[in-house]
Amino acid sequence: MYTLLHERPDDSAQIETLLDRAFGPNRYSKTVYRLREGVAPLGGLSLVARSGMAPELGPLLGTIRYWPIRIGVDGPAPVAAAMLGPIAIEPERRGEGIGVALIQRSLTLARWFGHRIVMLVGDPEYYNRFGFVPARPYGLELPGPVEDRRFLVQPLFAGAMEGVTGMIGRPFDDADAPAIPAPIAAEAVESLTTARKARKARRPVN
Ligand SMILES: CC(C)(COP(=O)(O)OP(=O)(O)OC[C@H]1O[C@@H](n2cnc3c(N)ncnc32)[C@H](O)[C@@H]1OP(=O)(O)O)[C@@H](O)C(=O)NCCC(=O)NCCS
Repeated sequence: MYTLLHERPDDSAQIETLLDRAFGPNRYSKTVYRLREGVAPLGGLSLVARSGMAPELGPLLGTIRYWPIRIGVDGPAPVAAAMLGPIAIEPERRGEGIGVALIQRSLTLARWFGHRIVMLVGDPEYYNRFGFVPARPYGLELPGPVEDRRFLVQPLFAGAMEGVTGMIGRPFDDADAPAIPAPIAAEAVESLTTARKARKARRPVN
């Protein structure tokens, strides 16, 4: 038995350990990591799976994270979107449906919270079943090398991709990021507050 929960700040250390085991030490060199660096995961969509049932929850079994990005940062009107990844399940618990549950639940939450587009880099053989399709035909680009077949996107409602094309980039400041739905991750709040304070401090005094 397992339970899906929103990721909390104190899950971070266990998540990093699981990701190191699943992807190895070179995971930080991937193009997508550059988009995530220094950015807080989207609190409402990033989930964990733990063994057992609340309040008797056991060890971490799986993680899925989403990040705020923008599409069309090389054009006049960038659009906010969410980037899925990584997802990882404890090796001895793979094949039990935990990965499917994390993806389906988080995509439902994404639609529920009004997100428009989810993008990812991953195996199409796994992600096609959830509604992901190739991103290149929409004219999407990543700021680094990526295999075309692994570069995927999912419009979350009809017409969501209309006029959306171009280079994917980081959410340059919090005003551009999609609203973070409840429960708000304390980490994300902290980073937004820090960004606001930093901007305020830079403003000239009249
Ligand atoms: C990929 C991963 C998240 C799947 O989680 P999981 O809980 O084992 O998957 P589920 O039990 O929900 O689903 C299993 C199904 O996915 C399929 N599957 C798993 N990995 C796959 C892959 N890379 N390509 C194609 N299908 C895959 C299985 O064959 C199985 O198919 P079936 O339902 O038709 O039998 C997990 O294997 C994992 O952590 N892998 C290492 C990290 C990783 O590769 N992450 C994804 C990056 S693209």
